[in-house]
Amino acid sequence: MPIRDAHAGDWERIWPFWRQIVAAGETYAWDRDTGEAAARELWTGPGRRVFVTEDGDGTVVASASLKANYGGPAADVANAAFMVDPAHGGHGHGRALAEHVLAAARADGFRAMVFNAVVETNPALRLWTSLGFTVVGTVPDAFDHPRHGRVGLHVMHRTL
Ligand SMILES: CC(C)(COP(=O)(O)OP(=O)(O)OC[C@H]1O[C@@H](n2cnc3c(N)ncnc32)[C@H](O)[C@@H]1OP(=O)(O)O)[C@@H](O)C(=O)NCCC(=O)NCCS
Repeated sequence: MPIRDAHAGDWERIWPFWRQIVAAGETYAWDRDTGEAAARELWTGPGRRVFVTEDGDGTVVASASLKANYGGPAADVANAAFMVDPAHGGHGHGRALAEHVLAAARADGFRAMVFNAVVETNPALRLWTSLGFTVVGTVPDAFDHPRHGRVGLHVMHRTL
């Protein structure tokens, strides 16, 4: 499954599953009805390096967005966000993309990566833990989950 840096034309292939994942309201602290222009800015705006995974026939099945999490003296701590098209979930794309992005972040000079808001009910938590991330703190009851009600948001960290 080829993983590569995105080009401008990829956005329209990312947007359908981006919208679906955010509209579900279970994993990201973004408005469920975020419009396309705002979504594009969140994912591909200035300072972000965007990646996509293609399957065998060139369909974009996943994307990641990498950026500095802070500025100035802390600018070498990265942040990344990941989305796999739900129609292609559970086939290893998330793990492969995460491993690729961790290596790219390290090569870009980042020394650590932080996830700011991992919903504590998200099955992705197991993936992040298996990749060496640890929970450094939890903001209790911060996220209004459509099925689980009020749940916490983990801040997760690993060195690169
Ligand atoms: C999280 C996400 C990127 C995982 O991508 P994926 O391609 O489905 O995951 P993989 O097939 O690579 O599985 C990786 C691991 O994650 C775990 N996992 C991921 N999703 C899971 C699910 N829905 N249920 C159970 N386990 C899951 C599995 O333990 C799996 O472990 P393994 O590699 O040892 O088998 C994808 O489900 C997604 O885009 N979710 C919505 C957005 C999101 O939550 N992003 C992360 C925000 S913190």
